[in-house]
Amino acid sequence: MPSLVVIDYGSQYTRLITRRLRELQVFSVIETPDVTPERLRELDARGVVLSGGPQSVYADGAPQLPAGLLDTDLPVLAICYGMQLLARALGGEVEASPVREYGKAVLAEYGGALFEGVEGEFVAWMSHGDSVKVPPPGFEVTARTGDTPIAAMEDRARARFGLQFHPEVRHTPKGLQVLERFVEATGVPRDWTAAHIVDDAVASVRERVGDERVLLGISGGVDSTTLGLLLHRAIGERLVPVFVDTGLLRLGEGDEVERALRGLGVPLVRVDAAERFLSALRGIEDPEAKRKAIGRTFIDVFAAEARRLQAGGTIRFLAQGTLYPDVIESAGGHGAANIKSHHNVGGLPEDLGFELLEPFRTLFKDEVREVAEALGLAPHLRDRHPFPGPGLAIRVLGEVTPERLEVLQRVDDLFVSALREFDLYRDTWQALAVLTPIRSVGVMGDNRTYAHTVALRAVTSVDGMTADWARLPHEFLATVSSRIVNTVSEVNRVVYDVTSKPPGTIEWE
Ligand code: XMP
Repeated sequence: MPSLVVIDYGSQYTRLITRRLRELQVFSVIETPDVTPERLRELDARGVVLSGGPQSVYADGAPQLPAGLLDTDLPVLAICYGMQLLARALGGEVEASPVREYGKAVLAEYGGALFEGVEGEFVAWMSHGDSVKVPPPGFEVTARTGDTPIAAMEDRARARFGLQFHPEVRHTPKGLQVLERFVEATGVPRDWTAAHIVDDAVASVRERVGDERVLLGISGGVDSTTLGLLLHRAIGERLVPVFVDTGLLRLGEGDEVERALRGLGVPLVRVDAAERFLSALRGIEDPEAKRKAIGRTFIDVFAAEARRLQAGGTIRFLAQGTLYPDVIESAGGHGAANIKSHHNVGGLPEDLGFELLEPFRTLFKDEVREVAEALGLAPHLRDRHPFPGPGLAIRVLGEVTPERLEVLQRVDDLFVSALREFDLYRDTWQALAVLTPIRSVGVMGDNRTYAHTVALRAVTSVDGMTADWARLPHEFLATVSSRIVNTVSEVNRVVYDVTSKPPGTIEWE
């Protein structure tokens, strides 16, 4: 598929460049600086973006331009470090600077191909030490700031562009327009739409799977549910979707997922394993030990089910909802080139002999949501908050017992339903209730109570790596608190968590 390839020089924004290009409906992937010309051809690269990076081009071992890149006529957009590399390689001069320029700058003047159609004040986000002092022959300076005389340069005839600032970040509000001009200059097709992603994935699944069968574990989350829909479209009843109900999901969620998938024609094999999970968790208080017990039990249950199903005819593939960020991360944050699939297929015993199928390997989370929409998954299921694999077990602090789990399910349901009712669900990235081991004294009517304390937590975030506590309206919190205390008799106190991440984490365990 025609693509734009982003070369990762270690900038924290590399992934963002890829995201922005995909927002412009261009298929874009990340590669390392040692990407070969053959690999670029294989990727059908129609242009290359060089990312920023923390190094100086003069430093020992500083990463270089991809071999042979300048011998091709591929359009190049070189950002920050990339611009300095490009300038140096083409005979310009780069000035090493001991101080970093960091923050917003206003372009004093701008023009040239990348700024066509851009009007008014241009605020640019700068984060660099070195800068280009003399542009290479054939290049024209197209923007400057008070501090940076060469903030942008271009060789229009060869479609090579340099930007000292970062067009990919939101702090450069008109940056997307600049990226769009580059996309236009490359002529790469802009057809990376949900419908296209689905068609493409369906075609490649069909080709790889042939007449074989595929096993899929469905957790109840958005990714695996969407994957189920996609695989069903691709191979119909040769998909064997297994839903292991751990009993640790939200109230009624297992039924809801099953109904939704059946409603869309996907027949689920549902394994009710709640008893097994609860017995594996008995007596365990340590959070990590709980996670391990759940992981082990999941694999045992799933492997047993897989064996049973294998007996009814060989299943060759196991599908997994691996996403592009996982792929990038497992490559150590440096490009996604030629990453091997995990040997340990989903943690399952080797003797099951599955081959791994990962149709979402090139997708970001929000693209999965678009795919879900294209495949007809109902909005309230599609837009659900992230939910951890170990489920509510890590929100019942200490030992998980059936009674405590049930209390938490009811509290959680009141909280999340109220968020939807008050139209606050989408304003939060994740919301959860925690059942604490604290009991405190209260008064209900004429009676003294001595019951549980629950904590409510709602956060805003982009990717869960950092988060801030959501400023939910006091009136809303008051309503939820009284609903909980009035309907869940085991609880007499509700607190709201006002800790950001860091230093807190989102989950309490
Ligand atoms: P923390 O608590 O680390 O959570 O701030 C960040 C995000 O990860 C989720 N999370 C998990 N997801 N298995 C998962 O699949 C886990 O063991 C796990 N622990 C935390 C959490 O819900 C949040 O979205």
